[in-house]
Formats: sequence, structure tokens, C-alpha cells
Amino acid sequence: MTSIRGADYGRRSDVIGPDKQPDLWEYKEHTGLKHAILSNYLKRWISILGRPRAGKPKTMHFVDSYAGRARYKSGELGSPILSMEVGEELHRHFNGAFFLECHNVERDAFNFASLRWEVEVAKQDFPSVGVRNYQGSFEDRAGEIFSNIGAGEPALVFLDPFGYQSIDMPLKMLDRRRNEVFITFMSSFVNRFLTDPSKAAVMDRIFGTPRWRELRGVPNRQERLVRLYCEQIQIMAREKLGVDEVLVYPIDVDFEGRDADIYHLVHVSQHEAARKAMEEAVWSANVLKDAQLSLPLPDAAVEDLILEELGGGRTLQALPLAKKVWLRHFTATWRDDVRGAVKALEQRGEVIVTPNDPSKKRKVGSLAKEKDWVELRGGGQPRLV
Ligand SMILES: C[S@@+](CC[C@H](N)C(=O)[O-])C[C@H]1O[C@@H](n2cnc3c(N)ncnc32)[C@H](O)[C@@H]1O
Repeated sequence: MTSIRGADYGRRSDVIGPDKQPDLWEYKEHTGLKHAILSNYLKRWISILGRPRAGKPKTMHFVDSYAGRARYKSGELGSPILSMEVGEELHRHFNGAFFLECHNVERDAFNFASLRWEVEVAKQDFPSVGVRNYQGSFEDRAGEIFSNIGAGEPALVFLDPFGYQSIDMPLKMLDRRRNEVFITFMSSFVNRFLTDPSKAAVMDRIFGTPRWRELRGVPNRQERLVRLYCEQIQIMAREKLGVDEVLVYPIDVDFEGRDADIYHLVHVSQHEAARKAMEEAVWSANVLKDAQLSLPLPDAAVEDLILEELGGGRTLQALPLAKKVWLRHFTATWRDDVRGAVKALEQRGEVIVTPNDPSKKRKVGSLAKEKDWVELRGGGQPRLV
């Protein structure tokens, strides 16, 4: 495995698989869901990090690494235009003191021409948004793009190829601390070709480990592969970048009512507020129905982890406590799982929840707020079973 540090973004294409099929630019239901999640998240992400301080304008960046044509066959907008739309909306919301810069990369000459044209037209409607279009492969252009982004400025990197992608690319993106990554992980293709001996080297690059071989005969294989991919991002970030707390959130995108989900979206961040914002973005895109929770949690898993984290007399605010849960249980929800577990533990008298603002009253057993403090009753005595 090559090192993922430094400015070498790789010469050969890190995307593996076909991207020239004729129906790729037909707008499918799952593309609409992906776009709804992306737009929802961009709004939340900018609302949190883009708020001007003391009237000083803020700039944030959207890196659309596999930008595409910017318009689908029947006229639907692609991600490069949707991001401009959000950028302009938030520019107005912050009274002109916020700017979104978009960096679009497209390798295919035909798609690039379409992208350039669509962006040019959209600039009339979204004049505050800065856009740079880069023709070529993202692997070749990434160094230049990041040299154009100010050191302290946050960037969301969207890795959305049609095919599969080596795990090295999201890892390289995490080496820049202000980056978050949003990945399309083609889980059904990976699942389908897992037992094809001619694809073994490809699988090694997708996962960055030979451990995928252990999953060849297991039930729920597609879900297990997604989990392995998420775990690998955490492991490789720790081992190769020295980043210990990477939050990985797999989102199961339902494929037009069929059982087999064609892909998962994977959000990779380092802050609990980002993870929570993505969960909300998914909820409001109406994707996360109960039946679609792909990686079900074992009973009491969240409660047990909370008790473990609060052991030794530690007191944590509810959202940082959720981060500890998310580091291990990727799909646990803030809305129900984390707050539900704190509520159950409080009702059983195992934890004490105190409002951050001591002048505020709170009812025992009500849902915890982000800044409420949570501690074990009795200061961290071991749990009696
Ligand atoms: C799934 S499409 C992008 C769709 C777009 N993100 C959207 O949501 O509207 C993937 C695009 O990536 C382009 N592409 C493939 N490999 C690439 C690479 N290595 N670097 C940049 N673009 C690439 C393809 O030509 C294709 O247009």
C-alpha cells in the first residue's frame, strides 16, 4: 500500500469501472435522493461554519471532484449547480458576508464542455459564488485545487464517481484537517464482484486491506462490506495520518424500491456537529426510514457504550458523548438512539443529566439537549448487572 500523505495524489486513475454507459445521465430516483442530501447538508454545514464573526466575511469551499455534466438528460440540475444555488442562498442569508467557492473537476471532454456551459449560465443567477472548473482527472488536479484554498478554510470534498474508487483518495483528503469528505460507495457492484478472482487486486485497492476476503461467505454481505469500508477509513486515518477520531457515517440509499441498494453514501468528518448535521440532512431528504437502517444496532449497545465512556467519574456534554458512540456505532442516531439511551439511563437512575445553563429547569427523562451534562450517578461506580 502506498503512503497517502503528502502532495502526491496519484497518477493513475483511482476510479475503477465503467462511466460511459448510455443511461448514466438519466436522472434516477436515487440520484435525486443523493442531491437532496447534498443540498440539505451544504445548507447546514455552511450555517454552522460559515456564520460571519464580528462582521468578518467567511469563505468555504465545495470540491466537486467528479463533477459530471451539471445537467441530466431531462434537464435536472447536477451537483455543480446545486452547490451554487445553496452558496447564493447562504450568501443572502448572511447579508453578503459569506462566500462559497466551488472547484469542479471533470475528466471527460464532452462532460467538461457541458459543465462549463451550465456553470456560465448559472452564474447569472448565483453571482456571489466563485467557480473554477478544472479539466482532467481529480488525481492530477487535486494538488492545484488545494493550493488555491486558504489554509484555515473549510472544504467539503464530494467524491462521486460512477465506478469504484480506491480508499486512498478519501484518506488523502482527510490529511487536510479542514476537509470533510462525502463519498459514493458503490456497494452493490463491490458485492457482486467480490467472488470474481479477476477483481481481487481491485478489491484490495478499494478496501486497503485483504480482510474483504473473510466476508465472501457471510450473510448480509453488502452491509458487512460497507462496515468494513468505514472501519478501514478509521484504521487507515489513525495509522497513516495519526488522526484518532474520525467519524464515518454510512447512508443507505434505497434504489427505486428494490431490495438491493445500489450504493451507499459515506460521510467522513471529524466533528460531532458535522455528523449530527448530516443525520438531519438525511432525515429531511426522507431517506432514513426504519426499514433502511442498514447496520442495525444490537440491543442496549448504545447504553453500554455511554456507561463505559462515563466510567471513572467522567462528565460529558450530550453531543460530545454522542461522538464517542458514533466512533463505534456508525449508524446510531442522535434523534432516537443516543438521546433515547440517555433518557432510559436517566429514568432508571443510572445517569444524572444537568442543564448547561443552571438557571434552566429540566424534567427527568426528557430528551437531552446537545450541551446538557451527563454523568454516572454515584460518580462512576461499576454497573450492577
Ligand atoms: C457520477 S458522475 C458525477 C455526477 C455529479 N457529481 C452529480 O451529482 O451531478 C461522475 C463523473 O466523473 C467523471 N470522472 C470519472 N473519472 C474521473 C476522474 N478521475 N477525475 C475527474 N472526473 C472523473 C465522469 O466523466 C463523470 O462525468
